[in-house]
Amino acid sequence: MIGKGRQTRDGIRIYQEADFAGMHTAGALAARILDEIAEHVFPGQTTGEIDRLIEEKVDAAGATSATIGYRGYKHASCISVNNVVCHGIPGAPIPKSKDETISKDLEKRRADDVLKDGDILNIDVTVIVDGWFGDTSRMYVAGRADKKAERLIQVTHDSLMKGIEAVKPGNTFGDIGHAIQTYVESHRMSVVRDFCGHGLGRVFHSPPNVLHYGRAGSGPRLEEGMFFTIEPMVNLGRPETVVLADEWTAVTRDRSLTAQFEHSVGVTATGVDIFTRSPAGKFHPTQG
Ligand code: MF3
Ligand code: CO
Ligand code: CO
Repeated sequence: MIGKGRQTRDGIRIYQEADFAGMHTAGALAARILDEIAEHVFPGQTTGEIDRLIEEKVDAAGATSATIGYRGYKHASCISVNNVVCHGIPGAPIPKSKDETISKDLEKRRADDVLKDGDILNIDVTVIVDGWFGDTSRMYVAGRADKKAERLIQVTHDSLMKGIEAVKPGNTFGDIGHAIQTYVESHRMSVVRDFCGHGLGRVFHSPPNVLHYGRAGSGPRLEEGMFFTIEPMVNLGRPETVVLADEWTAVTRDRSLTAQFEHSVGVTATGVDIFTRSPAGKFHPTQG
């Protein structure tokens, strides 16, 4: 049974059974936009144009972008290419990859925002529909990615699903993080510590911080009616990140390749409800 308007001791809001419908509507729109944007990702395309198309789709649906105007952010998406961990700014010059690096200067960037063959990118979209937030992201490839990149994308995707499998009443948030970390490290990759998932619902970011690493049994206990995101960032190299001078773009400190997937989910009486499931069954880029 879900209590009325309750909050846990950790400040986590417990939503009502009727609230799941609002989250499904918002989540489905965000997921559909990610489905539809896939055909617009190719070598020669710009991240600025991809974002423009996303904003157009949000508007066409009569929804609102949650990111435009959020803490001074100006875009309908974050587009994070290659060594950008998260919060990549569409239209901004893409930071240089390790193999392109001539200077050690972390601010050195490519000349423009044009995608090239083999680039991998995360596109993260958050929409508001009738006051409910849908927040989801996936990986895309411009052209063909190499084996290493494909493996990183696969492991990151599967780590999110491992985390989601740990969502049920009685488990803890630590169980989610533990499932993700164990899986990722078993593949000799690393989990980013500097960014986490978050509660959402009627607000964009609320308690708790959903860590993608941790000890089994630690953290707050999961209860029916909790809504939050799980959004692991996984690096081929070290877990550390650096934020560039634009104060948004987070890159891997060692410039290694990185990937991320994100779902918005709700805890049900028996398990989990995924709000941002792809309507077209396209969540994984290489599994259709
Ligand atoms: N969608 C991101 C998240 O997963 C947040 C982006 S905030 C922005 O929480 F301002 F950078 F867009
Ligand atoms: Co999020
Ligand atoms: Co997001």
